Amino acid sequence: MILEAEKFRSFELAGWQKIPAGYHDAFGSLTAQTIEPLLDAVRLKKGMTFLDIASGPGYVAAAAAKRGATVLGVDFSAAMVAHAQRLQPGVEFREGDAEALSCASGLFDAAAMNFGILHLGQPEKALLEAHRVLRSGGRFAFSVWAKPQETIGFGIVLRAVELHGEPRVELPEGPPFFRYSDPAECQRGLIVAGFESPGVAKVQQLWRLAAGDGLFNAMKDSTVRTAGLLRAQKPSVLDKIRDEMRAALAQYTRGDVVELPMPAWVASGVKA
Ligand SMILES: C[S@@+](CC[C@H](N)C(=O)[O-])C[C@H]1O[C@@H](n2cnc3c(N)ncnc32)[C@H](O)[C@@H]1O
Repeated sequence: MILEAEKFRSFELAGWQKIPAGYHDAFGSLTAQTIEPLLDAVRLKKGMTFLDIASGPGYVAAAAAKRGATVLGVDFSAAMVAHAQRLQPGVEFREGDAEALSCASGLFDAAAMNFGILHLGQPEKALLEAHRVLRSGGRFAFSVWAKPQETIGFGIVLRAVELHGEPRVELPEGPPFFRYSDPAECQRGLIVAGFESPGVAKVQQLWRLAAGDGLFNAMKDSTVRTAGLLRAQKPSVLDKIRDEMRAALAQYTRGDVVELPMPAWVASGVKA
Protein backbone atom coordinates (compact mmCIF):
# COMPACT_ATOMS: atom_id res chain seq x y z
CA MET A 1 0.00 0.00 0.00
CA ILE A 2 2.74 2.47 1.08
CA LEU A 3 4.92 1.19 -1.78
CA GLU A 4 2.07 1.76 -4.27
CA ALA A 5 1.58 5.30 -2.93
CA GLU A 6 5.33 5.97 -3.30
CA LYS A 7 5.36 4.63 -6.88
CA PHE A 8 2.34 6.74 -7.72
CA ARG A 9 3.96 9.83 -6.18
CA SER A 10 7.13 9.30 -8.24
CA PHE A 11 5.07 8.83 -11.40
CA GLU A 12 3.10 12.05 -10.74
CA LEU A 13 6.25 13.99 -9.84
CA ALA A 14 8.10 12.88 -12.98
CA GLY A 15 5.05 13.91 -15.03
CA TRP A 16 4.60 17.37 -13.50
CA GLN A 17 8.31 18.11 -13.78
CA LYS A 18 7.98 17.95 -17.59
CA ILE A 19 4.85 19.98 -18.23
CA PRO A 20 4.65 23.32 -16.38
CA ALA A 21 4.43 25.41 -19.56
CA GLY A 22 2.12 22.97 -21.36
CA TYR A 23 -0.16 22.78 -18.33
CA HIS A 24 -0.27 26.57 -18.11
CA ASP A 25 -1.18 26.92 -21.79
CA ALA A 26 -3.79 24.13 -21.87
CA PHE A 27 -5.37 24.32 -18.40
CA GLY A 28 -4.52 27.75 -16.99
CA SER A 29 -7.64 29.56 -18.17
CA LEU A 30 -9.80 26.63 -17.02
CA THR A 31 -8.52 25.99 -13.49
CA ALA A 32 -8.47 29.76 -12.91
CA GLN A 33 -12.28 29.68 -12.98
CA THR A 34 -12.48 28.13 -9.49
CA ILE A 35 -10.11 30.63 -7.87
CA GLU A 36 -12.67 33.15 -6.68
CA PRO A 37 -15.10 30.43 -5.41
CA LEU A 38 -12.19 28.90 -3.44
CA LEU A 39 -11.10 32.23 -1.96
CA ASP A 40 -14.70 33.09 -1.12
CA ALA A 41 -15.19 29.69 0.52
CA VAL A 42 -12.25 30.36 2.88
CA ARG A 43 -13.46 33.98 3.34
CA LEU A 44 -10.06 35.34 2.36
CA LYS A 45 -9.53 38.98 3.26
CA LYS A 46 -6.72 41.50 3.34
CA GLY A 47 -4.20 40.85 6.09
CA MET A 48 -4.83 37.10 6.37
CA THR A 49 -2.15 34.43 5.97
CA PHE A 50 -2.90 31.99 3.14
CA LEU A 51 -1.38 28.72 1.90
CA ASP A 52 -1.87 27.57 -1.70
CA ILE A 53 -1.26 23.78 -1.62
CA ALA A 54 -0.17 22.05 -4.87
CA SER A 55 0.09 25.55 -6.27
CA GLY A 56 1.24 24.63 -9.80
CA PRO A 57 1.71 27.84 -11.81
CA GLY A 58 0.49 29.80 -8.78
CA TYR A 59 -2.88 31.12 -9.94
CA VAL A 60 -4.62 30.85 -6.56
CA ALA A 61 -1.62 32.24 -4.69
CA ALA A 62 -1.46 35.25 -7.01
CA ALA A 63 -5.18 35.96 -6.64
CA ALA A 64 -4.90 35.65 -2.86
CA ALA A 65 -2.00 38.12 -2.85
CA LYS A 66 -4.16 40.49 -4.91
CA ARG A 67 -6.77 40.32 -2.15
CA GLY A 68 -4.08 41.56 0.25
CA ALA A 69 -3.23 38.26 1.94
CA THR A 70 0.29 37.17 2.95
CA VAL A 71 0.75 34.14 0.73
CA LEU A 72 2.86 31.00 0.38
CA GLY A 73 2.48 28.56 -2.51
CA VAL A 74 3.76 25.00 -2.11
CA ASP A 75 4.23 22.40 -4.83
CA PHE A 76 6.32 19.20 -4.93
CA SER A 77 7.59 19.88 -8.45
CA ALA A 78 10.70 22.10 -8.58
CA ALA A 79 9.90 22.88 -12.23
CA MET A 80 6.38 23.98 -11.31
CA VAL A 81 7.73 26.13 -8.47
CA ALA A 82 10.21 27.80 -10.85
CA HIS A 83 7.39 28.37 -13.36
CA ALA A 84 5.18 29.94 -10.67
CA GLN A 85 8.05 32.18 -9.54
CA ARG A 86 8.42 33.44 -13.12
CA LEU A 87 4.69 33.94 -13.69
CA GLN A 88 3.82 35.47 -10.32
CA PRO A 89 6.64 37.83 -9.27
CA GLY A 90 6.35 39.05 -5.71
CA VAL A 91 4.55 35.91 -4.48
CA GLU A 92 6.48 33.32 -2.44
CA PHE A 93 6.60 29.73 -3.70
CA ARG A 94 8.46 26.78 -2.22
CA GLU A 95 8.96 23.11 -2.91
CA GLY A 96 6.93 21.00 -0.55
CA ASP A 97 4.75 17.94 -0.26
CA ALA A 98 1.01 18.34 0.31
CA GLU A 99 1.06 15.09 2.28
CA ALA A 100 3.85 16.25 4.62
CA LEU A 101 3.92 20.05 4.79
CA SER A 102 7.03 21.56 6.32
CA CYS A 103 5.03 24.46 7.79
CA ALA A 104 4.43 24.89 11.52
CA SER A 105 1.05 23.95 12.93
CA GLY A 106 -1.57 26.68 13.30
CA LEU A 107 0.29 29.10 11.01
CA PHE A 108 -2.36 30.01 8.42
CA ASP A 109 -5.74 31.73 8.53
CA ALA A 110 -6.79 29.97 5.32
CA ALA A 111 -5.60 27.38 2.80
CA ALA A 112 -6.77 26.03 -0.54
CA MET A 113 -5.87 23.31 -3.02
CA ASN A 114 -7.08 23.86 -6.59
CA PHE A 115 -7.36 20.54 -8.50
CA GLY A 116 -4.54 19.04 -6.43
CA ILE A 117 -6.24 16.36 -4.36
CA LEU A 118 -6.95 14.06 -7.32
CA HIS A 119 -3.19 13.83 -7.96
CA LEU A 120 -2.26 12.58 -4.52
CA GLY A 121 -1.47 9.00 -3.58
CA GLN A 122 -2.60 9.64 -0.01
CA PRO A 123 -5.17 12.45 -0.12
CA GLU A 124 -6.31 11.74 3.45
CA LYS A 125 -2.83 12.76 4.65
CA ALA A 126 -3.06 16.03 2.72
CA LEU A 127 -6.43 16.82 4.31
CA LEU A 128 -4.93 16.17 7.76
CA GLU A 129 -1.97 18.39 6.89
CA ALA A 130 -4.22 21.22 5.68
CA HIS A 131 -6.08 20.96 8.98
CA ARG A 132 -2.85 20.94 11.01
CA VAL A 133 -1.36 24.11 9.49
CA LEU A 134 -4.52 26.17 10.03
CA ARG A 135 -5.21 28.17 13.17
CA SER A 136 -8.37 27.46 15.08
CA GLY A 137 -11.23 29.03 13.10
CA GLY A 138 -9.18 28.83 9.87
CA ARG A 139 -10.82 27.59 6.70
CA PHE A 140 -9.72 25.17 3.98
CA ALA A 141 -11.21 24.64 0.52
CA PHE A 142 -10.34 22.33 -2.37
CA SER A 143 -11.63 21.87 -5.89
CA VAL A 144 -12.06 18.75 -8.02
CA TRP A 145 -13.58 17.98 -11.39
CA ALA A 146 -17.18 16.82 -11.58
CA LYS A 147 -17.72 13.30 -12.93
CA PRO A 148 -16.80 12.62 -16.60
CA GLN A 149 -20.49 12.51 -17.56
CA GLU A 150 -20.46 16.26 -16.85
CA THR A 151 -16.83 17.24 -17.49
CA ILE A 152 -17.11 16.78 -21.22
CA GLY A 153 -13.37 16.92 -21.95
CA PHE A 154 -12.70 13.93 -19.67
CA GLY A 155 -15.84 12.16 -20.85
CA ILE A 156 -14.75 12.39 -24.49
CA VAL A 157 -11.21 11.10 -23.99
CA LEU A 158 -12.22 8.27 -21.64
CA ARG A 159 -15.04 7.15 -23.97
CA ALA A 160 -12.68 7.17 -26.96
CA VAL A 161 -10.21 4.96 -25.06
CA GLU A 162 -13.06 2.61 -24.01
CA LEU A 163 -14.24 2.35 -27.62
CA HIS A 164 -10.92 1.87 -29.41
CA GLY A 165 -8.16 1.23 -26.89
CA GLU A 166 -7.14 -0.48 -23.68
CA PRO A 167 -8.50 1.41 -20.63
CA ARG A 168 -6.58 -0.81 -18.16
CA VAL A 169 -2.90 -0.12 -18.80
CA GLU A 170 0.12 -0.66 -16.53
CA LEU A 171 0.48 2.57 -14.57
CA PRO A 172 1.34 3.03 -10.89
CA GLU A 173 -1.98 2.74 -9.16
CA GLY A 174 -3.38 5.81 -7.43
CA PRO A 175 -6.74 6.50 -5.84
CA PRO A 176 -9.60 6.79 -8.37
CA PHE A 177 -9.24 10.03 -10.33
CA PHE A 178 -12.92 10.91 -9.75
CA ARG A 179 -13.07 9.80 -6.09
CA TYR A 180 -13.85 13.30 -4.77
CA SER A 181 -16.19 14.10 -7.66
CA ASP A 182 -18.88 12.93 -5.25
CA PRO A 183 -19.92 15.69 -2.82
CA ALA A 184 -20.59 13.10 -0.10
CA GLU A 185 -16.98 11.85 -0.39
CA CYS A 186 -15.68 15.45 -0.17
CA GLN A 187 -17.68 15.99 3.02
CA ARG A 188 -16.59 12.65 4.46
CA GLY A 189 -12.92 13.43 3.75
CA LEU A 190 -13.17 16.85 5.40
CA ILE A 191 -14.92 15.47 8.49
CA VAL A 192 -12.43 12.59 8.91
CA ALA A 193 -9.59 15.15 8.79
CA GLY A 194 -11.25 17.10 11.60
CA PHE A 195 -12.99 19.90 9.71
CA GLU A 196 -16.40 21.14 10.76
CA SER A 197 -19.32 22.57 8.79
CA PRO A 198 -18.27 20.93 5.49
CA GLY A 199 -19.89 22.48 2.44
CA VAL A 200 -19.73 21.55 -1.25
CA ALA A 201 -20.85 23.73 -4.17
CA LYS A 202 -20.75 23.23 -7.93
CA VAL A 203 -18.93 25.75 -10.14
CA GLN A 204 -19.84 25.85 -13.82
CA GLN A 205 -16.76 26.25 -16.04
CA LEU A 206 -16.03 26.35 -19.76
CA TRP A 207 -12.85 25.06 -21.40
CA ARG A 208 -11.90 26.82 -24.64
CA LEU A 209 -9.48 24.90 -26.83
CA ALA A 210 -8.40 24.86 -30.46
CA ALA A 211 -10.87 22.93 -32.61
CA GLY A 212 -9.68 19.67 -34.14
CA ASP A 213 -6.95 18.14 -31.99
CA GLY A 214 -6.87 20.74 -29.20
CA LEU A 215 -8.40 18.35 -26.64
CA PHE A 216 -6.34 15.35 -27.75
CA ASN A 217 -3.12 17.37 -27.55
CA ALA A 218 -4.01 18.87 -24.16
CA MET A 219 -4.73 15.43 -22.71
CA LYS A 220 -1.68 13.77 -24.26
CA ASP A 221 0.89 16.50 -23.62
CA SER A 222 -0.28 18.49 -20.60
CA THR A 223 -1.65 15.98 -18.09
CA VAL A 224 -0.03 13.15 -16.14
CA ARG A 225 -2.41 10.21 -15.57
CA THR A 226 -4.54 10.71 -18.67
CA ALA A 227 -1.39 11.26 -20.72
CA GLY A 228 -0.02 7.99 -19.32
CA LEU A 229 -3.20 6.21 -20.40
CA LEU A 230 -2.97 7.65 -23.93
CA ARG A 231 0.75 7.05 -24.35
CA ALA A 232 0.34 3.41 -23.36
CA GLN A 233 -1.92 2.78 -26.39
CA LYS A 234 -0.54 1.33 -29.63
CA PRO A 235 0.11 4.02 -32.30
CA SER A 236 -2.64 2.71 -34.62
CA VAL A 237 -5.09 2.70 -31.69
CA LEU A 238 -4.03 6.20 -30.71
CA ASP A 239 -4.94 7.41 -34.22
CA LYS A 240 -8.43 5.95 -33.81
CA ILE A 241 -8.79 7.56 -30.38
CA ARG A 242 -7.78 10.94 -31.84
CA ASP A 243 -10.30 10.60 -34.70
CA GLU A 244 -13.04 9.58 -32.28
CA MET A 245 -12.29 12.60 -30.08
CA ARG A 246 -12.35 14.95 -33.07
CA ALA A 247 -15.76 13.61 -34.12
CA ALA A 248 -17.15 13.87 -30.59
CA LEU A 249 -16.06 17.52 -30.42
CA ALA A 250 -18.07 18.54 -33.50
CA GLN A 251 -21.15 19.55 -31.49
CA TYR A 252 -19.02 21.78 -29.21
CA THR A 253 -17.11 23.49 -32.04
CA ARG A 254 -17.66 27.14 -33.01
CA GLY A 255 -15.30 28.14 -35.82
CA ASP A 256 -11.74 27.33 -34.71
CA VAL A 257 -12.65 26.91 -31.06
CA VAL A 258 -14.30 24.20 -28.97
CA GLU A 259 -16.12 25.14 -25.79
CA LEU A 260 -16.49 22.30 -23.33
CA PRO A 261 -18.51 22.34 -20.11
CA MET A 262 -16.06 21.33 -17.32
CA PRO A 263 -17.87 21.86 -14.00
CA ALA A 264 -16.05 21.50 -10.71
CA TRP A 265 -16.92 20.94 -7.05
CA VAL A 266 -15.55 23.29 -4.42
CA ALA A 267 -15.52 21.71 -0.97
CA SER A 268 -14.69 23.58 2.22
CA GLY A 269 -14.58 23.24 5.97
CA VAL A 270 -13.52 25.09 9.10
CA LYS A 271 -11.06 24.07 11.83
CA ALA A 272 -12.77 24.27 15.22
C1 LIG B 1 -3.66 19.97 -11.72
S1 LIG B 1 -2.26 20.82 -11.13
C2 LIG B 1 -3.05 22.14 -10.25
C3 LIG B 1 -2.21 23.38 -10.26
C4 LIG B 1 -2.83 24.64 -9.67
N1 LIG B 1 -3.25 24.45 -8.30
C5 LIG B 1 -3.95 25.21 -10.50
O1 LIG B 1 -4.70 25.98 -9.90
O2 LIG B 1 -4.06 24.99 -11.70
C6 LIG B 1 -1.71 19.77 -9.84
C7 LIG B 1 -0.47 20.27 -9.13
O3 LIG B 1 -0.30 19.44 -7.98
C8 LIG B 1 1.08 19.27 -7.77
N2 LIG B 1 1.23 18.10 -6.91
C9 LIG B 1 0.90 16.82 -7.18
N3 LIG B 1 1.17 16.04 -6.11
C10 LIG B 1 1.68 16.85 -5.14
C11 LIG B 1 2.13 16.64 -3.81
N4 LIG B 1 2.15 15.42 -3.26
N5 LIG B 1 2.55 17.70 -3.10
C12 LIG B 1 2.57 18.94 -3.65
N6 LIG B 1 2.18 19.19 -4.92
C13 LIG B 1 1.71 18.16 -5.65
C14 LIG B 1 1.65 19.12 -9.18
O4 LIG B 1 3.03 19.35 -9.24
C15 LIG B 1 0.81 20.16 -9.94
O5 LIG B 1 1.47 21.40 -9.94
